[in-house]
Amino acid sequence: MMKRQATAFALAALLLLLLSPVAHASVESICKTITKKDPTGIVYHFCVKTLKSIIPEIDAVNVRGLAFIATKLSSIQATHVTEKIKELLKSSQDNAEKESLSTCNKEYSNLIDNLDSALSAIKESRKDDAVKNLSSSADAPRDCEKAFKDTGAMSPLEVEDGVQRFLSAIALGITKLI
Ligand SMILES: *[C@@H]1O[C@H](CO)[C@@H](O)[C@H](O)[C@H]1NC(C)=O
Repeated sequence: MMKRQATAFALAALLLLLLSPVAHASVESICKTITKKDPTGIVYHFCVKTLKSIIPEIDAVNVRGLAFIATKLSSIQATHVTEKIKELLKSSQDNAEKESLSTCNKEYSNLIDNLDSALSAIKESRKDDAVKNLSSSADAPRDCEKAFKDTGAMSPLEVEDGVQRFLSAIALGITKLI
């Protein structure tokens, strides 16, 4: 398993764990949910081991700091998707696909502005503003997918949009806990 992927998994697991402080979900049940699609069980064991090793530190973690990190992760992903959209726009030979990609380009550009606003708001302890910005951050990946449905082109961004939705939801969830 790639180290980077494993780290991303552990981080996502940690963020999810933080989203359910009241539920008292066990590490095992959280890792089971997250790694449902891994038939080898390797990621599951990695997940349990990693989370158990960092859990003693969780109580000391500043929720605002975590909200910032989660929002930053979402922003990094949005930048990565934007780069991919620009490459695809250059190479695409298909008009329907190009039209959809242009919509996605606009959506993601708005999303990056929105996430920047959220990062400033979190830094300045303006929770309500941050929540407002993050509440609309799921729009871009959804509207991007819709743009492909509208033109009938196949989406080359399905995975990216899915990851973006996931990261946006986590950032919003943690920011609400501030
Ligand atoms: C972020 O939220 C603030 C406060 O609601 C709003 O004024 C601002 O326009 C939003 N930023 C973006 C880029 O949507």
